Amino acid sequence: MDLDAARAILRQNDLGGYTVPTRGLYPFQWNWDSAITALGWHCFDEARAWREARKMFSGQWDNGLLPHILFHDESDSYFPGSDIWGAESRIPSSTISQPPVWALAVALMLERSGTGASARAEARELLPKLVDHHRWWFRDRDLGNSGLVETYHPWESGMDNSPAWDGPLANVPQVEWEYQRRDLSHVDPAQRPSRREYDRYLYLIEFLKNNEFDPHRLSAASPYRVVDIATVSILHRATRELVGLCQQFDFESAIPELEAALARTQEAVGDCWSEEHRCFLNRDKLAGALLRERTTATLLPLFGLLADERQAGQMAALVEEWLAASRFSLASTHPESPRYEPERYWRGPVWLHINWMIAEGLRAYGYDGLAGQVRAETRECVEEAGGYFEYYCSKTGKGCGGGDFSWTAAVALFWLAG
Ligand code: SER
Repeated sequence: MDLDAARAILRQNDLGGYTVPTRGLYPFQWNWDSAITALGWHCFDEARAWREARKMFSGQWDNGLLPHILFHDESDSYFPGSDIWGAESRIPSSTISQPPVWALAVALMLERSGTGASARAEARELLPKLVDHHRWWFRDRDLGNSGLVETYHPWESGMDNSPAWDGPLANVPQVEWEYQRRDLSHVDPAQRPSRREYDRYLYLIEFLKNNEFDPHRLSAASPYRVVDIATVSILHRATRELVGLCQQFDFESAIPELEAALARTQEAVGDCWSEEHRCFLNRDKLAGALLRERTTATLLPLFGLLADERQAGQMAALVEEWLAASRFSLASTHPESPRYEPERYWRGPVWLHINWMIAEGLRAYGYDGLAGQVRAETRECVEEAGGYFEYYCSKTGKGCGGGDFSWTAAVALFWLAG
């Protein structure tokens, strides 16, 4: 594992206080990318790790939304840019969020900083912003207080073109206007979402804008409303960490509402469990149906500590089979799926940060050996491909998507190297 190369990637992608996922393809600050990347920075430059967090939260909306993209600087190498999103925010941004990893990242950075006074000051300053962000999820993405927050765009899940979203996305109209994608000038089209999907991604971006991002209008009229079990799980785990931070910094007033939200999710998540699939499934809120596609998102309730012991045992057995189902693991869509594509983005390739979350979840339930196996398989991807790529073909181990990728290098630093 070449850790000097990993550190060099973070430095080369550092645009002055924020780290782009990779130059060209993704030239701005992405939300969950930045949180994972901050954990990588923290391994060798703690001050720079906290700066990543401050830069991300400098773009938080007044209502608590933490955008999935902050367009700190202009760039014509990416589409859709801030002009398409139509946000009226201080810092140009997108108008959706992404899985809320930040409270967990801050808790881990604080824990690993030891008794550092500066780390405590950084965490204390971020704490109210983290609480506001979790309040936004619970208030504006779960209007019925169901315990299961929703996503209004596939990009809000972070797993953009997952086959799990094929059904709900088919009900979204397509835009009629012509546009020029930029991603296909950086990456092989066989590794990216289709035109058909982009036509609908853009329709949803316009729908959000035309409804002024108002949660009541979105909830009432959005043609796409999906409970992404990965976002539910990451939010649950991060909220547990956030309660701990509130206790550490005497922010006691926020704890009751956070604990009430945790209880609602713990109560509701059982509705997503599928005995037949041995995992928790995503849900199409408009169709009122579970989405019967096994993706790595369906394993993340382990990371969220949302499974009971029996369910965890079922999921551990499923992971063992999943590891054996492809040469490189874990395939982001189960290889037995008819929609499995080993190198197309979220339809089959391996993503290191998801492997880390699944391994962390397995360890939390006592499956240390299996967690170690996931880690070993993850290292194998990097070694086979000879570098830190956005994702890896689960059949051949070939590096796919963007090269010199920040969160992949970060995961190597804080997880694979340890
Ligand atoms: N991942 C999306 C893209 O490829 C945006 O977050 O542009």
